[in-house]
Amino acid sequence: MKILMVCLGNICRSPLAEGILQSKLPENFVVDSAGTIAMHEGKSPDHRSISTAKKYEIDLSAQKSRPFSAKDFREYDRIYCMDRNNLKDVLSLAENDLQRQKVSLILENNQEVPDPYWGTMADFEKVYQLLDETCEKLATNLKESINK
Ligand code: 4NP
Repeated sequence: MKILMVCLGNICRSPLAEGILQSKLPENFVVDSAGTIAMHEGKSPDHRSISTAKKYEIDLSAQKSRPFSAKDFREYDRIYCMDRNNLKDVLSLAENDLQRQKVSLILENNQEVPDPYWGTMADFEKVYQLLDETCEKLATNLKESINK
């Protein structure tokens, strides 16, 4: 089972989502992340994401930003987007319903993970808590889905 987390720059939210979900799943699950823009390609996650995750013993420092590409639809089983713009951008590259069905917002009820890039450390902490809560549920559901 391969899971991809997607945000805009792949330096703030989706690196956190990747690290948090991976920490809750066994190693037969692959978790990766990508951004809908290539602007930060090759860069490490934002230092505020790295230090927030480190507080909870999650290491993001080896991650590198990369852009989402249409081939990710073939590579990954589930694609979770942080906000509705990310969702729209990813869906615009899908070629068929099978690909579209893999994609959803990571939060329930059409809720978005707010972009903390222009914010403070408190905003990064809020994003961490939101993602930690939702990834706990996701991990339970994903583990159940492969045991069926
Ligand atoms: P992310 O945050 O999508 O959570 O990685 C952002 C990163 C970079 C920019 C915006 C949001 N930017 O405008 O460069």
